[in-house]
Amino acid sequence: MNVYDSNRIFDIAKDIGYEKSNNQDNADCFIINTCHIRDKAKEKVFHEIGRIKEIYSNKKKPLMVIAGCVAQAENQEILKREPYVDVVIGPQSYHKLNKILNNFQKNQKEDFTEFDTVAKFDLLKKIKNSDSTVSSFLTIQEGCDKFCHFCVVPYTRGPEYSRPFKTIIKEAEDLIKNGAKEITLLGQNVNAYSYKENNTELRISNLLNELGKFTELSRIRYTTSHPLDMTDDLIECYSSNKKLMPFIHLPIQSGSNKVLKLMNRKHTRDYYFEIIEKVRKVKPDIALSSDFIIGFPGETDKDFEDTIDLIERVKYMNSYSFKYSPRPGTPAADREEIDEVILDERLKITQDLLNQQQIEYNNQFVKKTVQVLIDGAGKHTGQIKGKSQFNQSVALQGDKEIIGQIIPVQIKEVLTHSLLGEKI
Ligand code: 5AD
Ligand code: SF4
Repeated sequence: MNVYDSNRIFDIAKDIGYEKSNNQDNADCFIINTCHIRDKAKEKVFHEIGRIKEIYSNKKKPLMVIAGCVAQAENQEILKREPYVDVVIGPQSYHKLNKILNNFQKNQKEDFTEFDTVAKFDLLKKIKNSDSTVSSFLTIQEGCDKFCHFCVVPYTRGPEYSRPFKTIIKEAEDLIKNGAKEITLLGQNVNAYSYKENNTELRISNLLNELGKFTELSRIRYTTSHPLDMTDDLIECYSSNKKLMPFIHLPIQSGSNKVLKLMNRKHTRDYYFEIIEKVRKVKPDIALSSDFIIGFPGETDKDFEDTIDLIERVKYMNSYSFKYSPRPGTPAADREEIDEVILDERLKITQDLLNQQQIEYNNQFVKKTVQVLIDGAGKHTGQIKGKSQFNQSVALQGDKEIIGQIIPVQIKEVLTHSLLGEKI
């Protein structure tokens, strides 16, 4: 979502004549967009400011804006600790950026951290989304009302808000005109999307079906979904909507019922298995991924074994796992933490298993053909890259002319997190 937000921040600034600079040594203004989901993000911000300070030590100081969730959560601390910062602006206030840039007076510190979500999206509606990537992001929903006990999102992004249906479709139309072949709908709880129009509730399934009607759009994805919002109408889309890609990122965080309860996740592991069974019934080859938090306070060896057991049962195509990171202001922040050595051990076991599953998953594709949407140049000369329908990263030799096309690629080799193939 920060990629989407950064693009929109750029669109807003462009509206009053700012341009993106590719030269860090010669900018009038820096806007650093930040993430607060785990610790270290704050230190990264101060580190980045230090780097910029050095570049400008003998030059005119640029205007320094800290945007995003670190700005939201640490607004006063940032302004106090780092006088080089002029403005802090939270994720629901960045529509005010132009006023700030226009009116900014030296030595006047500014703090914009109100939750003005409706006003923000009202402004964004009026400013054309200039993103011109083959695969584009589109925010449909923001914030969260679920309050998992480890998570800062309800405090930094604010309460759940779903954008009006027609505004989303209009933005999609603009992205498609700009060349998007794939759109990924975004939200912290994307499948909780709910918008009332003429007394009818419109859900993410309605959005997926409406987007499916754009002939120039080939692929649709969405992220991140919550198991509790995987409703039957959404699952049914995997059978009826041919543009919806066969991949779901469905975080469970832990495989232990006890830990799920401590985390306030509001569902059990059996419920998660049921959802996966339902989805696999409709789409047997669906690729699955998840997030896991390792070492949540109270996680015993037995609880950890339940997580490993769940991973072994589900078999993921890839997943992310993180050490639990206490976040100030969340209910779990004061709970007794697990010993660091045990935490490291558990994380390693989890990551080894997830990597092994990813390789096993990808090995099935050797000599098989996948459909790759080519989205850019690869790492090596003469290489192009893209994503398969199952969200695997695929690199191959090819001409940059075909960026934007979906082509059949035969898989030749499996690397740790990607595949090498050949155009057929
Ligand atoms: N500690 C560790 N990981 C976290 N996540 C969210 N909050 C924390 C935390 N306090 C992880 C979750 C979530 C992903 C985006 O980040 O797994 O799904
Ligand atoms: Fe955070 Fe997701 Fe839980 Fe909401 S549902 S509180 S965004 S982890």
